[in-house]
Amino acid sequence: MVTAPDKTPSVIAGMFDAIAPRYDLLNHTLSVGLDKRWRTRAVDALELPHGAHVLDLCTGTGDLAVATVRRVPRATVIGVDFAGAMLRLGLAKVRALGLERRIRLVRGDATAIPLPANACDAATIAFGIRNVADPERALAELARVLRPRGRLAILEFGEPRIPGIRTCYAWYFRYLLPAVGRLVSKHTSAYSYLPASVGAFPPPSEFARVISRHGFVNVRAVPLSFGIVYLYVAEKN
Ligand SMILES: C[S@@+](CC[C@H](N)C(=O)[O-])C[C@H]1O[C@@H](n2cnc3c(N)ncnc32)[C@H](O)[C@@H]1O
Repeated sequence: MVTAPDKTPSVIAGMFDAIAPRYDLLNHTLSVGLDKRWRTRAVDALELPHGAHVLDLCTGTGDLAVATVRRVPRATVIGVDFAGAMLRLGLAKVRALGLERRIRLVRGDATAIPLPANACDAATIAFGIRNVADPERALAELARVLRPRGRLAILEFGEPRIPGIRTCYAWYFRYLLPAVGRLVSKHTSAYSYLPASVGAFPPPSEFARVISRHGFVNVRAVPLSFGIVYLYVAEKN
């Protein structure tokens, strides 16, 4: 049986604040650079028109927001996250890239998005929904802030299905990754929380059904990199 990890908002925000300084480095290293490709796939799946207004929920240090404005001419992004230290690093990144006019970072909770109804053409979440204590509430909020026919792209970790790859990856994800994460971030539990929270997350077909229950249609779950990650794409009804 998989024990559900503690997702109390203050605990999750505190954990991300604590690992923020090493977050980007560990992301790129532990995914051997694949994280950038996964974010690009998410942006491209949205087929955004030029000048689209996009919400990036659980934006962290803003990498998906940056990928969006780089790939979509004149697009603007509001990134929302509740971890102040992650947002501060994101803001420094946005300034260093001269993207202040196109990316705005706001502190807020995914279950009470600080935007009016129908405000966005599209929304994204990369590796965030698994951490939200009430993901169904967050999906309802996403449906509220998206305009009708607005598109949603969610990236979340999965488990590869091909047997040999599954075994090697399970060893890497359960043992090597937490050890490297602990060493580099100096945080005792954040990188053990990662495989624990992925293990407690619903399988792709089930999560796709959860998305459909919250006012979305044309829901697809697309495996990336042998299913290490799933890209969920949906449209507001
Ligand atoms: C694994 S990081 C992903 C960051 C970024 N999207 C990326 O792709 O690198 C998860 C982020 O979700 C944020 N988060 C988790 N639960 C949240 C909630 N309920 N409201 C707002 N942010 C939340 C955390 O603070 C953290 O920055």
